[in-house]
Amino acid sequence: MATTHEEAPGSAGTARATGPQMAAALAGFREAYPAFDTTARLDDLRATEYARLDALGQTYLDYTGGGLYAVSQLRDHQAMLADVVLGNPHSENLPSKEMTERIGATRARILEFFHASPDEYEVIFTPNATGALRLVGEAYPFGPGDQYLLTFDNHNSVNGIREFARAKGARISYIAVAPPDMRVPHDPLARVLTHSAPSGHRLVGWLSEGLRGGRRGGHNLFAYPAQSNFSGVQHPLEWIAQAQAAGWDVLLDAAAFVPTNRLDLSVWHPDYVSLSFYKIFGYPTGIGALLVRHPALAKLRRPWYAGGNITFSSVQASEAPGAGFYRTPGAAGFEDGTVDYLGIPAIGIGLDHISAIGIDTIHTRVMCLAGWLLTALSELRHSNGTPMVRLYGPAETEMRGATVTVNFADPAGTLIDSQLVERHANAVGISLRSGCHCNPGAREVALGFTEADMKASFRHKEQLSYEEFLHVIDGKTTGAARASMGLASTFADVYRFWEFAASFRDVARADLGRLRRRSTRPEHMIRVAPKDDAGGIHVVFRLPDFRPGNRSPDPGAAGGRLRGGLDGASGLHAGQAVRRRAGGPARGRGRPLALPAPGGHPRGRPPAGPVRPQARPGAARSRQRGRRDVLL
Ligand SMILES: Cc1ncc(COP(=O)(O)O)c(C=O)c1O
Repeated sequence: MATTHEEAPGSAGTARATGPQMAAALAGFREAYPAFDTTARLDDLRATEYARLDALGQTYLDYTGGGLYAVSQLRDHQAMLADVVLGNPHSENLPSKEMTERIGATRARILEFFHASPDEYEVIFTPNATGALRLVGEAYPFGPGDQYLLTFDNHNSVNGIREFARAKGARISYIAVAPPDMRVPHDPLARVLTHSAPSGHRLVGWLSEGLRGGRRGGHNLFAYPAQSNFSGVQHPLEWIAQAQAAGWDVLLDAAAFVPTNRLDLSVWHPDYVSLSFYKIFGYPTGIGALLVRHPALAKLRRPWYAGGNITFSSVQASEAPGAGFYRTPGAAGFEDGTVDYLGIPAIGIGLDHISAIGIDTIHTRVMCLAGWLLTALSELRHSNGTPMVRLYGPAETEMRGATVTVNFADPAGTLIDSQLVERHANAVGISLRSGCHCNPGAREVALGFTEADMKASFRHKEQLSYEEFLHVIDGKTTGAARASMGLASTFADVYRFWEFAASFRDVARADLGRLRRRSTRPEHMIRVAPKDDAGGIHVVFRLPDFRPGNRSPDPGAAGGRLRGGLDGASGLHAGQAVRRRAGGPARGRGRPLALPAPGGHPRGRPPAGPVRPQARPGAARSRQRGRRDVLL
């Protein structure tokens, strides 16, 4: 049944972005995605555990960058610490033993969460997913003729393993992914090689071809992400058994997958799994894990030893058999120095929090939101009919996660650089992420960079940052804007992002490009919040560091507020902004970017999206009155 959010149970989180357009869009959304109502508990949690988001007027859409913690996680962790005496687990005293026990209990809880049998898997604590990947890379027994096979679509920390493989004489092969879906082609007859073979490496067009290249009886490692942190594509988990049957060990990078998807290790049996816990539940940072099958662990050969991972060593007997040290058996032999022992129990608290909600509930929710957003963005058009958004990844929700990566295009079809988009988003309190997302292969495919483009970008590596250099050589867009949903996401969040995207209608890139770069440092802009019932907004700046010049239109700004969001993050000085607001000449081909107030919609257009809300009588007038365009 379609209802407005005012009537909806548990819709506290959606109630913030008010206004008839938003309410009508929400009603249409709930009708189109009835499963969303089964996740209403998360709206309640948004209003309690994650209340800081709405209190600060923040639209957080960077869950693939980092998850958000519930305040109860902090409270429970602190309470636990306050009640016990815990010491370094490498000692034998009572606080140390207590700590060792709690670490063991957390390992067991992690296995339980992923339905992994302790008879099959071990948990190695690492600083993050990257730490887990490095452990595999440095210790995997690559030798001459062995193989490292990986998808083009991979995080840098998986790509980086190729340096270990290369140093040991192993061959490196990349599996192609094909735009626009960014999936690995699975039809062996359709040899879709959209990108060239990286120099010195092999490029294969589909998985089975890559697997055939494994060295019989050798050490062959196949690495891929369960979910792309760039495109949101979920690569098939069926590949795991397929690769193992062909004699490969499988490294599944689950960092972007596990925050909103069930990874059941009683069904899937990858040899190595990398993840970071902060991506799942926000707190604590600095702890990740390598989940590893016992035989795969036994295969690893660590290149060094250190405090914490040995039982005994000698200086004088360093030439003795075994190089003068004994490694601690099992997981501890892979944990260097002292682990973050006080933080580790917070992992159990975080997992309990997720279990109490239900990972399937989280999944359902984010996929409903992603489905709506994908459709809504794809329907956005400029007045001349050209699409406003270019999507990198599947347009449907099947076999993908709630990571939506796009570039905005202007009416002439020119892409607007994602960093610029991110800056505009910052100015209105929307947190996206721009760039390549540490996934260079996906970016190269998505944006059509050639090997020559990429080689050129390394010529002057010392003088320029990578991103700057791409800008300098050809002005090509350097990345894409990523919006990723998570457990605290609401419909209001995705609606607000859609509104933001729609505000680029008929805006020429040239106009945006001329904007002076001004600081968007968070300390300069502390709040973008709904101001009044009519939907106006205030952008509130902390001023000591802020220099709007002496042309502020609003004397009140000196007191710390700039009505309408002029200046601070915009890059336009107030005089320009005022001229433009009054309809003055805007240089370039398009119009100045006007961001609607929350609950409003972009100037002069009905909201385009899967849901076309019916405007209530008088709504247009009140929009007109209430709109406070933020000129950027
Ligand atoms: C798919 C994927 N793998 C690995 C990582 C690396 O995670 P971390 O930076 O926590 O080591 C990330 C981080 O975003 C990721 O998305």
